Amino acid sequence: MTDRRIPLVIDTDPGVDDTLAILLINAHRDKYDIRAINPVHGNVHYGDTSTNAVRLAEYLNIDCRIGKGAVKPVIRAARTAGTVHGSGGLGGYDLPETDRQFDEKYAWDVLYEEAVKAGGELELVTLGPVTNVAIAFLAHPDLKNYIKKIYSMAGTAGKGNTNAFAEFNVYVDPEAFQILVSSGVPVYMCGLDGNASCGLSSEEILSLFHEESRVTDLTGTIASFIEDRNVRKWGMKINTIHDHVTMACYIYPEIAEFRPMHCSVELAEADAEGQTKVCEPDEDHPANIWYLVKADKQRYMEITREMMEFYKLG
Ligand code: RIB
Ligand code: CA
Repeated sequence: MTDRRIPLVIDTDPGVDDTLAILLINAHRDKYDIRAINPVHGNVHYGDTSTNAVRLAEYLNIDCRIGKGAVKPVIRAARTAGTVHGSGGLGGYDLPETDRQFDEKYAWDVLYEEAVKAGGELELVTLGPVTNVAIAFLAHPDLKNYIKKIYSMAGTAGKGNTNAFAEFNVYVDPEAFQILVSSGVPVYMCGLDGNASCGLSSEEILSLFHEESRVTDLTGTIASFIEDRNVRKWGMKINTIHDHVTMACYIYPEIAEFRPMHCSVELAEADAEGQTKVCEPDEDHPANIWYLVKADKQRYMEITREMMEFYKLG
């Protein structure tokens, strides 16, 4: 029987918000055929992101390939955000151990193989530094012909979260993101500012992710960790779960407003490394991305309630 579901590869650095994003897409397995979850260095060292990825796939019983990802950026030294994601990268939560094996192939070859196999229908969601994807484009020049679209949690047109201008995923591997936006594949870029339209209050994040279900020990731990970090440690008023918002916009694009823009990455200026320079397209700056302006917060919250409902039943 032909599988009519959408073939999907997820590239990720789990990561508390990555984990919630993967829980969300897993609740839509009727529509998406997750072909691979490819870990990459990022929030925590690759040893932890890759362990989290394989344990999460097993925990959710996702039968997919787990490629061997990049342990550092293409050029720069690895940088992590351990304080942002807690010990081990999941807010202190330990997923059950597993003896599940990684794929024998590297993530960039897994992506290419699955893209060719899908005959041009493959879709890709990136939730971390895009090192694996950049290597894939460089190693396989025809890859761009086989990826239908890319949703990427990356960048910002406003204030950064890593230096004054840069968002973490791009800051860590700016050259890789420049390669991605130059690939010619349609890129839907969900930056810090657009995602913040779905920022949650303390009450909202804690009530949404503590709903009783078979995953509440995981989602509740992560939500409490994010809220405590953002509100008590950082004095923020809202909690934007960036990868989870990006995944919601991917699954339900009708809740999001995207605009065709031009994006380039600052690679040289010391204080602005990793800045995504997003501007209105013109003859010198052709549109090369769709940029998230905002998304419908009420719908986003409904989508999250439905996700928790799935795990009540599933
Ligand atoms: O800047 C936010 C992004 O960086 C998210 O993807 C988070 O998981 C970290 O990777
Ligand atoms: Ca991430």
